[in-house]
Amino acid sequence: MKDSPSKNNHLWYRDAVIYEVPVRSFCDSNGDGTGDLKGLTGKLDYLQELGINAIWLLPFYPSPMRDGGYDIADYLGVDPQYGDLSDFKELLKAAHERGIRVITELVLNHTSDRHEWFQRSRRAKPDSPWRDFYIWSKTPEKYSKARIIFKDFENSNWSWDDLAGAYYWHRFYSHQPDLNYDNPLVREEIFRVVDFWLEMGVDGLRLDAVPYLFKREETDCENLPETHDYLKELRAHIDSRFENRMLLAEANQWPEDARAYFGSGDECQLAFHFPLMPRLYIALQREDRSPVVEILERTPPIPDNCRWAVFLRNHDELTLEMVTEEERKFMYQHYAPDPRARINFGIRRRLAPLLNNSRRKIEMLNLIIFTLPGIPVHYYGDEIGMGDNPDLPDRDGLRTPMQWSSGINGGFSSSAAARLYLPPITDSEFNCERVNVLDQERDPRSLLKWMSRLIRIRRNCRTLSRGTLRILTPAPFEILAFLRCWQGEDILVAVNLSPTPLKAKLDLRDYNKIIPVDVFRGKKLPLIGEDPYPLTFGPHEYYLLSLREPGEELGA
Ligand code: BGC
Repeated sequence: MKDSPSKNNHLWYRDAVIYEVPVRSFCDSNGDGTGDLKGLTGKLDYLQELGINAIWLLPFYPSPMRDGGYDIADYLGVDPQYGDLSDFKELLKAAHERGIRVITELVLNHTSDRHEWFQRSRRAKPDSPWRDFYIWSKTPEKYSKARIIFKDFENSNWSWDDLAGAYYWHRFYSHQPDLNYDNPLVREEIFRVVDFWLEMGVDGLRLDAVPYLFKREETDCENLPETHDYLKELRAHIDSRFENRMLLAEANQWPEDARAYFGSGDECQLAFHFPLMPRLYIALQREDRSPVVEILERTPPIPDNCRWAVFLRNHDELTLEMVTEEERKFMYQHYAPDPRARINFGIRRRLAPLLNNSRRKIEMLNLIIFTLPGIPVHYYGDEIGMGDNPDLPDRDGLRTPMQWSSGINGGFSSSAAARLYLPPITDSEFNCERVNVLDQERDPRSLLKWMSRLIRIRRNCRTLSRGTLRILTPAPFEILAFLRCWQGEDILVAVNLSPTPLKAKLDLRDYNKIIPVDVFRGKKLPLIGEDPYPLTFGPHEYYLLSLREPGEELGA
């Protein structure tokens, strides 16, 4: 558990539990209405108590904030609303002292149009090195096979710039021009940015929108070999200069394509598993494990030193790009009946509202992602079951102030309510009087306490972070069951995806004569024999069983 970042451990990420946190939303230390780095530093004890051992910070660099900070105007600074570089160094130090690693964003595909590079580029002569920092064209016809990602906001990946007298390419908002990776100067500048943050002590970088770096005619401009070559160079560059650093790929792709971001262990150490996520919700709603089992079976093996990053929610819409048309309709119908919840190819809702605030369902989905192979990535506020606001623009409804208490502004800020960067959640079910950290810290049965227990179980159990996966297929397809095995300490996870009580018999012949121990309840179950092992499930009930004696050690 005391895995201090100063310790030489280049595989630290294998045992990580990552907490995703927008600095803006977490805690305001100076009463100006916006969360800041000092505020986050002040809340590290809370995060340590929760049990996580890595934080992933959303962009905190100078930015016009037209895309939550993913529109960067200066890669090497801190936006004044969050503090300054010394505040960031202080945060790093304080996090490391607590054994918490810090992962930041490397938004390498694009910049803000306010970035000095773009301002120079649009003014530079055609074919000059500065002009070449971005992708310009006389016509908007090139790369026509590339899809539009923010389809609710943009109708082309090209926009006209009067000053340049040319179109420029942008994969996201038109105010986020894509950098030109065919220009060696761009590739070098990005190395400089990486060196700047890693020298300071940052432990990992999330590579934002990484599939789109290179563009080639007649392709969809995603996952191109040139992009992978560059990532290999980036990894080699980092490994030659720094120890114990990690790259996390944000590649919203099918498993085969996302798998490519591990290379042969020489690109990223982690990559998000996007297709798994919506299938957890589909399986729950259909009361059928098949969507989850099928996607896991379709997921190719990965190099030993790599891991998937698994998640239920994040700061973006619940993306429905990696599902079929029929599955997308199903998801919209059941999880976003209110059209305000729909955006681009996805659903802008938080975990608790998505699951009708059902404690059982929230626990079950969390249990699954904390026990499947992969590194769990948890979104701030979901540990207390925060709600969302469908009336805020874009994805802001998922990024509202953290609810620390039932006090003024939910304990997030001492500013006047009108100065808050976003209004807090006020609806009757999720407002700060109903949902807040302080109350849940005092209540041993709260979701917060349960999450903290789950996180500790996961962190104390090498089988869950390192073990192999074997999926079981008991007769009722409502039961999702799998075994994690590692060095003789095996774990059985079994959940009832349905609201109906069920009995299932599991093939546990390999565990003949073992007494399973329920890790959550600390109770022994009847001895396993040669016959299929009977388990009785209540509505949405789950088991986490240690199949080794004594299993009690696992409890937190
Ligand atoms: C980030 C989004 C952002 C987009 C453009 C994504 O992948 O997660 O929040 O809007 O990149 O930078």
